[in-house]
Amino acid sequence: MSEKELKYKEVYSQINSLLSDENDFEIRLVSVLSVLHFEMNFFWTGVYFVKDNELVIGPYQGPIACTRIPFSKGVCGRAYREKRTIVIDDVHQVEDHIACSSLSNSEIVIPSLGKNNEVSFVLDIDSKELRNFDSTDEKYLNIIVKDFL
Ligand code: SME
Repeated sequence: MSEKELKYKEVYSQINSLLSDENDFEIRLVSVLSVLHFEMNFFWTGVYFVKDNELVIGPYQGPIACTRIPFSKGVCGRAYREKRTIVIDDVHQVEDHIACSSLSNSEIVIPSLGKNNEVSFVLDIDSKELRNFDSTDEKYLNIIVKDFL
């Protein structure tokens, strides 16, 4: 098992014990974001909610970010439209990437699908490293979104 996979398993258990008696969505969300951000050393970790016909900023850890993203724009917009996880090795190579910070170099966006297969929010995570995200991140972040949020 890779070091990253071991770390995600540790993070999963930490979130699991932290939230075992907690049903409030906001508390669950901010807790998941905080554990992921600090344990995985991400640069920006947050969500955009589907609201007012666009993606609207929710809770996050990290520097100030764009507040509203049209469905037609950016990596978040693409994850929303395609209803699938998008991994970007180098954000500078993506034409319509919305640069909230010049320090961000790679990114992963995971859409959360509700009962009717509708996206309710996207989890957006940025890294200062190029090619920081791979299939391990995709696998564990999807499990965390599905099991805890
Ligand atoms: N990178 C995103 C915009 C949000 S910031 O990364 C926080 C995008 O292109 O959708």
